[in-house]
Amino acid sequence: MTDTPVLTTLPDDVVLRVLHRDDGPALAAAYARNREHLEPWEPTRPTAFYDADYQTQRIPVQLLEHLNGRSVPLVLEREGEIVGRVNLSDIVRGAFCSAHLGYWVDARLAGRGIMSAAVEAAAVHARDALGLHRIQAATLLHNTASQRVLERSGFERIGTAPRYLQIAGRWQDHVLFQRILHD
Ligand SMILES: CC(C)(COP(=O)(O)OP(=O)(O)OC[C@H]1O[C@@H](n2cnc3c(N)ncnc32)[C@H](O)[C@@H]1OP(=O)(O)O)[C@@H](O)C(=O)NCCC(=O)NCCS
Repeated sequence: MTDTPVLTTLPDDVVLRVLHRDDGPALAAAYARNREHLEPWEPTRPTAFYDADYQTQRIPVQLLEHLNGRSVPLVLEREGEIVGRVNLSDIVRGAFCSAHLGYWVDARLAGRGIMSAAVEAAAVHARDALGLHRIQAATLLHNTASQRVLERSGFERIGTAPRYLQIAGRWQDHVLFQRILHD
């Protein structure tokens, strides 16, 4: 395992930790392994996205954003493999104190409560370490699994946004969720 900060250990001995500069090959392997699993829920990826070099080149950008307090790029690691991601992105301060949340878990590990635990850990981190007030997430209308994860973690539905994100090549409607982190 790398020497980056660990947030917590999740079910099935999965570790939730900060992205490391050497994660490129493991990330590319994870995305390639999960290509079919993720395609319906993510933006269309260029072919190069699944190459180790491509992932390695993206990491410094993500780590710089982290350093600047704009995001928290996390990976799920198990037995040396990357088996998912959680990202707090678009962190805004001032009167908003808010971030966007995105996530996925390896198809082989779905349905074991791993992402519910990871989202809870990310929310606690956003509240206690980052001092944020709110997290927002968006799911496709038919992404029941993702909606359950958010509801289990105390997110509430705040509306539906028409043609909100370009997912799987189409501008698609999304359900918006938020979790207020402080009373
Ligand atoms: C959405 C996703 C992250 C869920 O992760 P997970 O670790 O499998 O979720 P959990 O095991 O914590 O399950 C949470 C809930 O979802 C339910 N669930 C899991 N898979 C499901 C499925 N395919 N259909 C319906 N419900 C499902 C679980 O039963 C559980 O609900 P419960 O509390 O009522 O029992 C995972 O399915 C995934 O990576 N999907 C592809 C990428 C994606 O959709 N990312 C989110 C984009 S918004």
